Amino acid sequence: MQKIKIFDTTLRDGEQSAGVNLNTGEKLEIARQLERLNVDIIEAGFPASSKGDLQSVQEIAKIIKNSSVTGLSRSIKSDIDAAWEALQGGAEPRIHLFLATSPIHMTYKLKQTPEQVIETAVNSVKYAANYFPIIQWSAEDACRSDLPFLAKIITEVIDAGAKIINIPDTVGYINPKEYGEIFSYLQENVPNIGRVSLSAHCHDDLGMAVANSLAAIENGATQIECTINGIGERAGNASLEEIAVALHIRSDYYKAKTRLHLQEIKRTSSLVSKLSGMVIPPNKAVVGQNAFAHESGIHQDGVLKEKTTYEIISPELVGVQTNSMVLGKHSGRHAFRNRVVELGFQLNDQEVNRYFKMFKELADKKKEVTDDDIFALLMEEKLSNHDISNYQLTSLQVQYGTNHIPTATINLNDLNGQQIQEAATGAGSVEAIYNTLERCIGSQVTLEDYRIQSVGAGRDALAQVYVKMRFQDEVSTGRGTAQDVLEASAKAYLNAVNRVLYIKNNRQIAKEVGV
Ligand code: KIV
Ligand code: ZN
Repeated sequence: MQKIKIFDTTLRDGEQSAGVNLNTGEKLEIARQLERLNVDIIEAGFPASSKGDLQSVQEIAKIIKNSSVTGLSRSIKSDIDAAWEALQGGAEPRIHLFLATSPIHMTYKLKQTPEQVIETAVNSVKYAANYFPIIQWSAEDACRSDLPFLAKIITEVIDAGAKIINIPDTVGYINPKEYGEIFSYLQENVPNIGRVSLSAHCHDDLGMAVANSLAAIENGATQIECTINGIGERAGNASLEEIAVALHIRSDYYKAKTRLHLQEIKRTSSLVSKLSGMVIPPNKAVVGQNAFAHESGIHQDGVLKEKTTYEIISPELVGVQTNSMVLGKHSGRHAFRNRVVELGFQLNDQEVNRYFKMFKELADKKKEVTDDDIFALLMEEKLSNHDISNYQLTSLQVQYGTNHIPTATINLNDLNGQQIQEAATGAGSVEAIYNTLERCIGSQVTLEDYRIQSVGAGRDALAQVYVKMRFQDEVSTGRGTAQDVLEASAKAYLNAVNRVLYIKNNRQIAKEVGV
């Protein structure tokens, strides 16, 4: 069996999805879960892109011990220095350098001749080699590059010290046959190729990212770059869970295996979906809500007689729980702590006490407290407000009647603890709240999306609201959870505003630097 390394880029390429802005606490939680999933490499961010990104990569590198942590870097000294500052404390620091090699990118974006591009690439690898024991080099837009040129630049960067060569399909253009052929071509035409491992990085613009990644494995790639739930720039990246399960279920064909703990897949997928606000389509392979549901009578009958008639993946394989115990108002601290740990959170004693109190308050209002409720509770308190708490909701009152104009009155605390109070009306209660919040904040906010869902079933279920909004020229998502939908709506709005303010405070270089 060929060993395949899984390079997870959820926190870098995944975080480049439109409207996804994870704060440091959320990134740390995802990184810990990726470590539990046992991915080989975690690409934790792009340290030179902002102070916040540098800090979160640094914190992740400090705590993650069983996966190697890497960061993206352009082929310039200041980026490499920032990457070293962020990664030097890590267990197996590695840098991910990239430079575009396609005629389109070299001419219009880099404005460099092919010879200059080779020189830049070689110099950056040599400079990075002063610090990093492992250097990965990516030929951005490799799949639209001239193959003899690609072979030439790769030969040179290997001589300069690169240990992993990544072939990104940056724009999601290639098909499996062609992608496989690039890997074969490079193995035949790069004389020193035996000194490195080859890696695949695919985008899903034409819906072929997973198939392309598997084709790369068939043609010699031993590392796959992918994201949880396939989130990422535009149509996203190759989805980790689909590749991992395809390799497992079809090991007879691919003769390759990863070191992933597959039973952690569902939990990782839910965590990423909830924290990023990127909903998983019900029919999504492996992790969608319907992935294991058999609807038609013929299929149900078949599965009842013999599961394998219609089921090639068992829900247990990827950690889908079919019978999870619920907690209630008689549950004790010990049971609560156990459940929180099972859900993948790490809490110190003080936090356990604090959240246990909140759990009890919730259990008084709600008969059964499910895993989803506990998750939502922790997410709301522990993660949403980590390093972003400019505005805090202190009180909300809404008047609504079928024959009255909805009116909201809101009290907020700003960063300096100053009280702000405003009131406004709207066509509906949510609009009244959002008009009031806009007054409190004093600048225009455009709501681009608003979604509400219940956390689990039942009339007493918690409400979870996701919003996407444009504020101060930034698009941001936010989420809020509460027993009441209106309070959840107000919290989601403030969460999105606070994220923008946090990002603005920390930004050095805009995210749109060209990757
Ligand atoms: O898609 C791409 O080309 C990338 C590189 C920076 C690896 O994400
Ligand atoms: Zn990419």
